[in-house]
Amino acid sequence: MQISRYDDYGSMSVKAAEFVANEIIAKPNLILGLPTGATPIGMYRKLIFMYERDKITFKEVKTFNLDEYYPIKRTSKHSYYKFMFDKFFKGIDIHGENINIPDGEAKNPVAEAASYEEKLANVGYADLMVLGVGANGHIGFNEPAEVMKANTHVELLSENTKEQNARFFNSADDVPEEAITMGMGSIMRSRKILLLVSGETKQEALAALNRGIITPKIPVTYLLLHRDVTVLTDI
Ligand code: F6R
Repeated sequence: MQISRYDDYGSMSVKAAEFVANEIIAKPNLILGLPTGATPIGMYRKLIFMYERDKITFKEVKTFNLDEYYPIKRTSKHSYYKFMFDKFFKGIDIHGENINIPDGEAKNPVAEAASYEEKLANVGYADLMVLGVGANGHIGFNEPAEVMKANTHVELLSENTKEQNARFFNSADDVPEEAITMGMGSIMRSRKILLLVSGETKQEALAALNRGIITPKIPVTYLLLHRDVTVLTDI
């Protein structure tokens, strides 16, 4: 695991975008795993800028998002679907059929999770998986627990997660009850991982990586088992 520290969020985001761009240049039909959240927004902006300057094209890239609330309408201002289109996809030349996000409108979320995992398996999982991390070390909606689920699954959101995510909703009661998320195995099967750790609240998650101890109580520590992880941080 290689950890590189940057002075500020802007320079970390530029580095992240360059990292992703280089992977796309090396493999134009890259399978790219993507997160939502505040952390990757700067990287998405910079990637759009690079596309606008003809530095990269996403014409052959296939994306797989990490997670989505359930149930949620795509048009909801809180859906990760809408986030991805607003913050990234509408600014680049990716083909709609190459975008994969767990379907928050699916009738059967368990079947949707299984079919999402199958889609990932069919493409051989991500070539590059970009991740953010929660203050408690969560990855996707894989929260601290006694055990971790390997594959894409439906996660019942804890009261704690609902309270934390309430900042984006009117209240904790408005946060959907569940989410569909890649499991730690779906993530670990990626060929390469780029983890972005931004903001003082992530100190503990970063410290856990430096300690080098793997525990499901801090899900991000599973990444210590992966052979190709780059961490970019601004803290
Ligand atoms: C997003 C996701 C989450 C975030 C994490 C950090 O798809 O799965 O695990 O990466 O909650 O969020 P921010 O970047 O808002 O601090």
